[in-house]
Amino acid sequence: MVAGSQAGIGTARGLLMVDRIAGCWYHPTISHTNATEEARTKMTVAPSISELDVRALWHPLTQHKPLADSPPPLIVRGDGCYLEDDQGQRYLDAMAGLWCVNIGYGRSELAETAAAQMTQLPYLAPTMTHPPGAQLADKILEMLGWRGRVYFSSSGSEANEAAFKIARQYHLQSGKPGGATRYKIISRHRAYHGNTLGAMSATGQAERKIGYGPMAPGFIHVPPPYPYRAHPKLTPAEHGIACAQAIEETIIYEGPESVAALLMEPIISGGGVLVPPDEYLPRVRQICDEYGVLLIFDEVVSGYGRTGKLFGRDHWGAEPDIITMAKGLSSGYMPLAATAVQEYIFDAFLGDAGDLSHFRHINTFGGHPVSTAVGLRNLQIVEEENLVENARNVGEYALAQLKNLSSHPWVGEARGRGLLLGVELVADKETKQPLDDAEMLAVLGRCKQAGVLLGRNGNTVPGLGNILIMAPPLVATKSEIDLLIEALVFALGEK
Ligand SMILES: Cc1ncc(COP(=O)(O)O)c(C=O)c1O
Repeated sequence: MVAGSQAGIGTARGLLMVDRIAGCWYHPTISHTNATEEARTKMTVAPSISELDVRALWHPLTQHKPLADSPPPLIVRGDGCYLEDDQGQRYLDAMAGLWCVNIGYGRSELAETAAAQMTQLPYLAPTMTHPPGAQLADKILEMLGWRGRVYFSSSGSEANEAAFKIARQYHLQSGKPGGATRYKIISRHRAYHGNTLGAMSATGQAERKIGYGPMAPGFIHVPPPYPYRAHPKLTPAEHGIACAQAIEETIIYEGPESVAALLMEPIISGGGVLVPPDEYLPRVRQICDEYGVLLIFDEVVSGYGRTGKLFGRDHWGAEPDIITMAKGLSSGYMPLAATAVQEYIFDAFLGDAGDLSHFRHINTFGGHPVSTAVGLRNLQIVEEENLVENARNVGEYALAQLKNLSSHPWVGEARGRGLLLGVELVADKETKQPLDDAEMLAVLGRCKQAGVLLGRNGNTVPGLGNILIMAPPLVATKSEIDLLIEALVFALGEK
């Protein structure tokens, strides 16, 4: 095959490709080095999906070279907590996609809602208004228990970008002393906040940034609470307070009047399921108040029941000024994200017509009618089926089962809240030396062999990609957890 950029042209009989360098037609399944006229006329066999995948698709976070020997399964359908490939093999999706398919796969209610909305009104500029958008914004505020406003976008990264700009502009316009000089965003090592330049700059994972620098200026990182690897002389409570103090010191050293906001997930998810000690978040809130810094919670993963409470915030009663959300908001059925702000933030953006004090930001697909209609129906299902409670109950069962694995020499710690669970694997329990990458990948591979798909904190911080991550759909039952545990026992093996 001639190398070069290619454009595919579908025909009734197959898929013709034109090579833009060579400028000639060819069929992708035919080797053109030896192509004969006869072969050229046999353009009837369409390439398989796997061939198209290998040829055309660029997967995220994937080293493609090894894929040639071990292609990903071709998934053709999903149902509840399970995915099925083209060979009929079923997998328990213990990651709910990317922690998002909270109500499970195959929910026809959402398909029907989407179809009806698409027929009625498939798109509207977000400067205008439509029923599902206004209704969903109201529903989000009701669930948050807030008076405030909701700004819609389509991804968690965008929701965080909006939050950064809102925080900066709020300070500029709040009329509070020193507001005009506040622009810095403090966030935490280990946390992921998205792939766009601002969200990546806020991300505290070095491996996600290699080669993409320089990062945006004004983003500063502090250590998160990490009780498993905390100084052994500190109690979890003391460790939590020490981490909060590190935030306070950073604010002081940077100059409080330069700091706009502190961004954090209540529980770090993709960074390794790091659950803070109870003392941490309330103290963080106090510090933000003392120094006039806005507190933004990234609830992209933890929002809408994942942790066994409606929001991660609810475990500690620390109320942020801004919350970002995505994933579980639509259970991943449509791209949908939101940045919710308290009313006092929104008020700083009010002015007369023509005044530039409004939020000068737009997402073409923000508040999309189909996405918001699906999001609204999804949240109704979360309530109707008591999925938050289910996540709490089944999550407690799962954590107890995972803790039972701790006699295995590799299981350093099992932790989590609700159905946000992690197991930290170590090569040596005394030194806590992380299990290396090859072993981690082998464990994941054996889980897949046993029919269970798990995640890990891959491509995050160097040398510490040793945490298995589990976040099944919130409709999971104890029998799904039993399957997961069986697969893990098999994958860890006897040591
Ligand atoms: C905590 C958190 N914030 C933000 C994001 C970014 O979301 P998206 O991939 O939708 O841009 C993610 C994605 O996994 C996330 O886990």
